[in-house]
Amino acid sequence: MWLAERATIPGLMLHFMLRKRFIEDSVRASLAAGCEQVVVVGAGFDTLAARLAAEFPQARFIEIDHPATQAAKRLAIDARRNLDFIAANLVEERLQDALAGAYRRDAPSVFVIEGLLMYLTDAQIAVLFAAIAELQRAPGTLVFTVMEPASDGRPRFHNATPLARYLAPSGRQALPLAEGEMVLVAERIARP
Ligand SMILES: C[S@@+](CC[C@H](N)C(=O)[O-])C[C@H]1O[C@@H](n2cnc3c(N)ncnc32)[C@H](O)[C@@H]1O
Repeated sequence: MWLAERATIPGLMLHFMLRKRFIEDSVRASLAAGCEQVVVVGAGFDTLAARLAAEFPQARFIEIDHPATQAAKRLAIDARRNLDFIAANLVEERLQDALAGAYRRDAPSVFVIEGLLMYLTDAQIAVLFAAIAELQRAPGTLVFTVMEPASDGRPRFHNATPLARYLAPSGRQALPLAEGEMVLVAERIARP
């Protein structure tokens, strides 16, 4: 594993550990502040919702992901009373429509979008964020990761080795190789 990382993107494992720790801390802080619903968009094989659903039985957790990815995950994890899985291709289906039936608009919520945006165009990202703004009652939190473009405007880890660039050429539809990746938290403030 260490050798594979050194040969492709040195530091990638630490990047993932810090990113996931930061996101989990943010979600836990939201739950401690009274959040009742956590929506993980493009959840992939991440375990956050499954673990926290067991720990916070009073909260509702929803994972939404591309059908192909979610079908593989469902082989290992079953839905629970407070954990729903929704399969949707968000390029073809509106988030509001996909969540209808599972999502409670009246519940304080946190949305997590980790490692997804690099697969979407700017227009698709705008549609996704507008959907969350429509769905999410204030106060609410959105935690998301974005990749900084490299000097050529395309996503790439700045320290990707030539081997990594050969294996996964950069581009929005390629692997998430970027100059750097930031985790951002947006708070939706309740106004009187
Ligand atoms: C790199 S993985 C990130 C997984 C997880 N969020 C994480 O960071 O560990 C990208 C995820 O985005 C999902 N995804 C990509 N395009 C999508 C689309 N059009 N609709 C729904 N999900 C999509 C994939 O199925 C995959 O689960």
